[in-house]
Amino acid sequence: MFPKSLFNLNQLTTAAIEEILSRAAYYKKKRKKESFSSLKGKNIVLTFWEPSTRTRVSFEMAIRKLGGNVINYSPEISSEKKGENLKDTVNTLAALGADAVIFRHSSPGFFNLLSQLIDIPFISGGEGCYQHPTQALLDIFTLRDRGVELSQLKVIIVGDILHSRVARSLFYAFPPFSAELTLVAPPVLLPEELVPRGVSRAYHLDEVLPEGDVVYLLRVQRERQGKNLLPSLAEYSALYGINEKRLPLLKKGVLLMHPGPVNVGTEISRGVLDYFEKNCPGSVLFQEQVRNGVFVRMAVLDLFLGGG
Ligand code: NCD
Repeated sequence: MFPKSLFNLNQLTTAAIEEILSRAAYYKKKRKKESFSSLKGKNIVLTFWEPSTRTRVSFEMAIRKLGGNVINYSPEISSEKKGENLKDTVNTLAALGADAVIFRHSSPGFFNLLSQLIDIPFISGGEGCYQHPTQALLDIFTLRDRGVELSQLKVIIVGDILHSRVARSLFYAFPPFSAELTLVAPPVLLPEELVPRGVSRAYHLDEVLPEGDVVYLLRVQRERQGKNLLPSLAEYSALYGINEKRLPLLKKGVLLMHPGPVNVGTEISRGVLDYFEKNCPGSVLFQEQVRNGVFVRMAVLDLFLGGG
């Protein structure tokens, strides 16, 4: 049911996704029991070639909770700097005793190639602007865990869709559960050819915002924009940010999600966050997503690397 490596969500059947979600629910339920042993004796290398807080730390915690050994391997001091190619580097790690690698890399398409060249399994921690499967899994898990019925749920994803690996994984996470997806961004960040079949798109946030049961915000990924595609962040924020002016447009009971890191003042204002904290506690799921990341990654590690 599970492929050797995990780097895109379309590799997984709905049954496999369900299995991950229910295993994550098990780990969440048993969270007070500090240790498990499905990765006992396994050496898992964490190698992140792009900045990360939540993903890297939650993978590390997940490995430790499952009894595995974590080896942090830093690209800054790797042999790649001495001219070694990545396939040889990974095979060297395997020769040293690594059983699997958790990888974050900036080049989209690289993991597909790598999976064909190396012998040990690896799990993506985010691949350029291609996909970020464990993020989408933890997002689905977070909604399910809140008791949200996903079928017919209207989800609006707002932000830099063009450069978002999270969005590209969410494209394969929501439809199997029959949730309705609408993508919203300025045209330059939402090219028509990117929109998958069955998914809607809009360029005017205010027109679709009142329909959203879930509003999923994305950061503007300035580090991935060769040239600045937006005239200014202030203008983006005025047109696509969730600010006080848009509060009356939000559906009653709306849930707000974000993969982090949040740029407060751009995709969402401090005032809106304060308003929700005071008036609708529990509707902003940002920290809940982070917490659930550990359980979902435990489930993925267990099912992919721990023999199930
Ligand atoms: C995202 C990522 O790195 O792809 N964050 C995350 O993993 N939680 C989103 C982002 O960087 O904007």
